[in-house]
Amino acid sequence: MPTGKAVVVALLVTGAAGFIGSNLVRHLLQRWPDQRLVSFDLLTYAGHLANLADVIDHPRHRFLQGDIADREAVAAVFDQHDIDGVIHLAAESHVDRSILDPMAFVRTNVAGTVVLLQEATRAWGDRQDVRFHHVSTDEVFGALGSEGFFDEDTRYRPNSPYSASKAASDHFVRAWHETYGLPAVITNCTNNYGPYQFPEKLIPVVITRALAGEKIPVYGRGENVRDWLFVEDHCDAIGLVFERGTAGETYCIGGETEATNLELVRLLLDLVDAARGADPGTSAELIEFVTDRPGHDFRYAMDITRMRSELGWSPSVSLREGLARTVEWYLDHREWMADVQGSGHREFTDTWYEKR
Ligand code: NAD
Ligand code: TYD
Repeated sequence: MPTGKAVVVALLVTGAAGFIGSNLVRHLLQRWPDQRLVSFDLLTYAGHLANLADVIDHPRHRFLQGDIADREAVAAVFDQHDIDGVIHLAAESHVDRSILDPMAFVRTNVAGTVVLLQEATRAWGDRQDVRFHHVSTDEVFGALGSEGFFDEDTRYRPNSPYSASKAASDHFVRAWHETYGLPAVITNCTNNYGPYQFPEKLIPVVITRALAGEKIPVYGRGENVRDWLFVEDHCDAIGLVFERGTAGETYCIGGETEATNLELVRLLLDLVDAARGADPGTSAELIEFVTDRPGHDFRYAMDITRMRSELGWSPSVSLREGLARTVEWYLDHREWMADVQGSGHREFTDTWYEKR
């Protein structure tokens, strides 16, 4: 790792076989040419080794399957691999699933995070040349109306079981810094999109269903607003905060790209039609308005002044460019889609629509 506050030799990345985790492993192997990376992931329905296929045999990378809520397993990772840095992404991450099965979110996101914190503290004692980076979401701040932005001083007001569990995990990380002196940083980021995103989240749902000629479910009237960030920009921001962020602080990351869901879906479908040579408007006919998500947060938007002024970071990929790259990626990775879709997610989605 070039310069900065934290210099680690062996980094543990939890949730490494998921969407952001797998992009991050790829990014960090290039960014930090001297680090060893240990990927730790339970391989739930959302985690796939296929996401790490091109780096699985990298000489500085090791993949371990395990559960962050399993204290013995986590202790063994710290002890056997001389871990001196953690980037923690493992989580149950889908809001709709959290509405049907909140306890799974308490177990992994809350208890799992506490296990990691306990084992980091046990393994590291008072060391300050180590770092625990907790990757979190803007959803902990609740919902915005049509005005205003979240920032590092916004009060926590989570509305879904998912965001409540992430809020709880943020509080535990903060408490570990205050109580035990753990050198921890937290990042809260807006909605990510890009390659390897599991087709339960809006953007890959739209792409995969459009390619299959299936109806595209838009919740409510599609008026909810999200701030979208291309995943590679998020990985770059995480790398920077890990290197240079101040322990005990939080950093808000976002794409400065707001769109209503309907605007986003329409743009995405235009790009899908263009990419496969279909007439403009062909896929838009697949849009279907369905019952709204209960407790659906109206708007998320981030003020990234701190990232920009303290760390010199800002998003580099525009929404149109990022979406076009994402559509290309899904078109080129149909085998991957077939692979991950075999993991029971369609069954969930179909039950979800029926239950509402
Ligand atoms: P994801 O669902 O694609 O990946 C989560 C990974 O965690 C999966 O590989 C899964 O197998 C693993 N996992 C789940 N439970 C585990 C357990 N008990 N032990 C070990 N591994 C387990 O999620 P993602 O979108 O890549 O999100 C990663 C992190 O980033 C999450 O903490 C999420 O809250 C946060 N985040 C996501 C977004 C987003 O838009 N996707 C935005 C901000 C923050
Ligand atoms: P999602 O990708 O689940 O992310 P989050 O809920 O964490 O923001 O959803 C993004 C937005 O898209 C959200 O407002 C819900 C909406 N949405 C749909 O309209 N249809 C869908 O099929 C999905 C999955 C989401």
